[in-house]
Amino acid sequence: MAEPLSSQGSIATPHHVAIVMDGNGRWAKKRFLPRVAGHKQGVEALRRTVKACLDAGIQVLSVFAFSSENWARPADEVSGLMELMALALSREVSGLHQQGVQIHFPGDKSRLSPRVTEGLEKAQALTAHNTRLVLNVCFNYGGRWDIVQAAAQVQAQGLPITEQNLAQHLALAHVPDPDLFIRTGGEMRVSNFLIWQMAYAEFYFSQALWPDFGPSELESALAAYQRRERRFGLTSEQINAATAPTPEENR
Ligand code: FPP
Repeated sequence: MAEPLSSQGSIATPHHVAIVMDGNGRWAKKRFLPRVAGHKQGVEALRRTVKACLDAGIQVLSVFAFSSENWARPADEVSGLMELMALALSREVSGLHQQGVQIHFPGDKSRLSPRVTEGLEKAQALTAHNTRLVLNVCFNYGGRWDIVQAAAQVQAQGLPITEQNLAQHLALAHVPDPDLFIRTGGEMRVSNFLIWQMAYAEFYFSQALWPDFGPSELESALAAYQRRERRFGLTSEQINAATAPTPEENR
């Protein structure tokens, strides 16, 4: 049986890793292939990365599979990505389920085809009780959309707009905020991904194109994360004082 989430990981291992999987188009272009071929390889890289996260004891992985802005891409790429999502759902979900992965699809479902929506719902229901890794495949997701939809829910319930009320209605309310944000493909921007939730995430940028990403790149990101000092608005001295062993503990 899968190990419960609470017994995994260590202080030095991020609980939640968020990834912008960038570089699929360039990977394909280098090989004179259509962009969709890069996205297909991207699914392979995602499968490898889920396995590497399970091995590392990471408890939540959130990936940006399709952004609210991606609709503006060429029509054949948009339909290719929708087709790929349907295909990935039929091919990957049972393997993920066997590995103890709980899958969610944060994002605006209103514009997705009934076929894709049904696949997402089935995958989410099938894996709902798994506990080894929560995988958030953000699909038709945008950070601004998320904040607005959360605010609309808070308002509809007649609640005051507070940080806590908004956070409880965001699309990732079922997991703590990301500790580590990775973007591949050499670009250094957030591109409207989890903009609320990444307030205190550590950022890591990899030159690797997403289809080339795998366990060794994840390991480099985790090693960089372990060298960071997370201060959450405090000073270094305050952090050290809070984490230093007491004389009692030193004995
Ligand atoms: C950004 O690379 C990537 C995307 C817009 C799509 C990411 C999707 C996957 C990795 C496949 C998994 C998704 C599904 C649907 C299961 P880019 O195309 O912007 O690359 P470029 O910067 O090289 O052009």
